[in-house]
Amino acid sequence: MANVLVIGSGAREHAIAATMLKSPQVTTVYCAPGNPGMKKDQIQIVDIDEMDFPKLVEFAKEHLIDLTFVGPEVPLSKGIVDAFIAARLRVFGPDESAARLESDKNFAKGFMQRNNIPTAKFKTFTDFAAAKHYADELSLPLVVKENGLAAGKGVTIVKDADDLEPTIKTALDKSGEILIEEFLEGEEFSLMLFVGGDKKVVFPISQDHKKIDEGETGPNTGGMGAYSPVPHITQEVLDTTIHEIVDPTMVGLAKEDLEFAGIIYVGCMLTKQGPKVIEYNLRLGDPETQVLLPQLESDFYQMTSDLIDRKLPDIKWQQGDFYLGVVIAAPGYPTSPKQHIALPADLPGNIFYAGVTEEDGKLYSSGGRIFTLYNHASTLECAQAKVYAELSRLDLHEFYYRKDIGFRDL
Ligand code: AMP
Ligand code: GLY
Repeated sequence: MANVLVIGSGAREHAIAATMLKSPQVTTVYCAPGNPGMKKDQIQIVDIDEMDFPKLVEFAKEHLIDLTFVGPEVPLSKGIVDAFIAARLRVFGPDESAARLESDKNFAKGFMQRNNIPTAKFKTFTDFAAAKHYADELSLPLVVKENGLAAGKGVTIVKDADDLEPTIKTALDKSGEILIEEFLEGEEFSLMLFVGGDKKVVFPISQDHKKIDEGETGPNTGGMGAYSPVPHITQEVLDTTIHEIVDPTMVGLAKEDLEFAGIIYVGCMLTKQGPKVIEYNLRLGDPETQVLLPQLESDFYQMTSDLIDRKLPDIKWQQGDFYLGVVIAAPGYPTSPKQHIALPADLPGNIFYAGVTEEDGKLYSSGGRIFTLYNHASTLECAQAKVYAELSRLDLHEFYYRKDIGFRDL
């Protein structure tokens, strides 16, 4: 029997931990630091910060943890996996050198170039005049990106010539190094896979909703809802993406001595010339995970464990149903979410919690995204109707959520 440790505290980590607990091999799942909403699913929360690697390693040794699953990008980019491997602990996630594919956009673009992976034309700059000169060569719109992890915020699409100089200046001031990129036109989609060296498990396609307001308007957020599968992304597009993007990525990882056991999440644009990579993430998406993991019918612990051993796991997905999840946020999110709002007492079980604290046995909001409520049905329309019917029965008038999750395929 196995003990599992999940690192992180959001609804994504709640979904990971809950899915681990479904494995007949798993007795206890800990989550550090976790959140008190997870306790409803018998997940043991552990008061250790996700960046305190020595304490996490010590905890894993003391509690005889068989497998640690790292959720978020920041500890990955700072080498949490290296710390666990050095302590001879089994861990699922990329080490620091591979995590650069997410944390260092310049490195990621260089990797794509070296391995002939289709992506937008770009150059990197630390100097204003050179950046402006290159931008003048490209036609508008174009994209200015700050290098580094910016939680979806360091990217500006410049449409108007007047905005070009100030955007370049601000981005350079903020991060010191910027990328200027050709604008890719098309339909955005993402593909997630679990890998272990050269073995891969491709997940169903999911669609995130990144903007705060309905119809994909307003500022970017971490993600306001998701559904899966996604009918408008066809099997043919999926096959092309695997052939032209995923396979060369995995060959490149092996060639550059970066192979690992963990997640590759490719953000793609389906352009007229075919799919191109916008970015790599080396972790699961949030809220995509909340509609993906509930679809896994086989043993999640066995799957991750096999991939750590570089073995191809046996996988079974549910067939035929659509899964849809809506993120409930605090008003004021993403800029200044209002804190300490009491959650309704009668919340159902089909919820993954994120920004919540507990006082006297009651849950209160403490953050931007508070929880994801999800459900499934044989059509996307029914799945959507079910989720919104449940939400409308709850007293959520102090919270905010989008009413149109799934709209692109309805
Ligand atoms: P990133 O942080 O690189 O994923 O960028 C955030 C968002 O900006 C993406 O999800 C896209 O919607 C958009 N974006 C980034 N790069 C491009 C590009 N080259 N062309 C068009 N849109 C882009
Ligand atoms: N939902 C987008 C992300 O996790 O990056």
